[in-house]
Amino acid sequence: MALIETRGLSKIYTLGKNRQVVALNNVTMGIEEGEIFGILGPNGSGKTTCLKLLLGIIFPTEGEIEIMGENQYSVTAKKNIGFLPENPYYYDYLTGPEILKFYGKLFDIPLSVISTRTEELLHLVGLYDARNLTLRHYSKGMLERIGLAASLINDPKILILDEPTTGLDPIGCKETRDLLIKLNQAGKTILLSSHFLSEVERVCTRIAIFHRGYLLSSGTLDGLMKDYQAENLEDLFVKTIEKFDTQGKQEFA
Ligand SMILES: Nc1ncnc2c1ncn2[C@@H]1O[C@H](COP(=O)(O)OP(=O)(O)O)[C@@H](O)[C@H]1O
Ligand SMILES: [Mg+2]
Repeated sequence: MALIETRGLSKIYTLGKNRQVVALNNVTMGIEEGEIFGILGPNGSGKTTCLKLLLGIIFPTEGEIEIMGENQYSVTAKKNIGFLPENPYYYDYLTGPEILKFYGKLFDIPLSVISTRTEELLHLVGLYDARNLTLRHYSKGMLERIGLAASLINDPKILILDEPTTGLDPIGCKETRDLLIKLNQAGKTILLSSHFLSEVERVCTRIAIFHRGYLLSSGTLDGLMKDYQAENLEDLFVKTIEKFDTQGKQEFA
């Protein structure tokens, strides 16, 4: 059984009286334990919507989600997930340890555990030496790393990251990527979204290509490239979308 499963997942946003946006259309996919699974797609393809549905922050119009055998609203699911949103907003005047304490308390984690984990996490993300700095003095890369640490405060089995390297410079990207690989090796299952082809190529064990709310294809990069006779990820991406545009939506709906 997959750690995360969606079946026929759809989301329609209603704007005003008659306008509707189909953000996600009949998406069925599974994420296995131990994977780094990448949802890849251009802006507006439904990536964030999909992640928010998994987190139970928004509600599906149709379809079902199972996380570790339970639905997305269960306490077990919540306890086992860490989430790093696309544009996290933190309290500027707190230090790294204070932020981690705040998030730890939200999870009702005992203070002694929070404090041990804080130390471990600050070392892990390379912010231990900056522990006395308030976040307003952080660089973008440091903010991303404290966010990652915060998403790990509950020692989750599953880590969900929305566009984890967007806005980071090449060094920040590499640091984040290396960290994700390290976390995966330490046993975390990772689900990330990205519109960066190269990022996904470098870290993900399997990918799902999203386009206009449709899941066009999913599998290992090698497998997909073979199926589509693509030379690289970019070529695969273009070919998948071309196929969708020429064959129409019927096959995917
Ligand atoms: N809260 C919302 N209300 C209305 N439309 C939305 C909302 N959130 C997202 N959308 C629309 O749904 C589509 C998918 O958006 P999103 O899931 O954010 O895509 P991505 O993360 O891939 O950029 C887009 O057309 C977007 O404009
Ligand atoms: Mg998004």
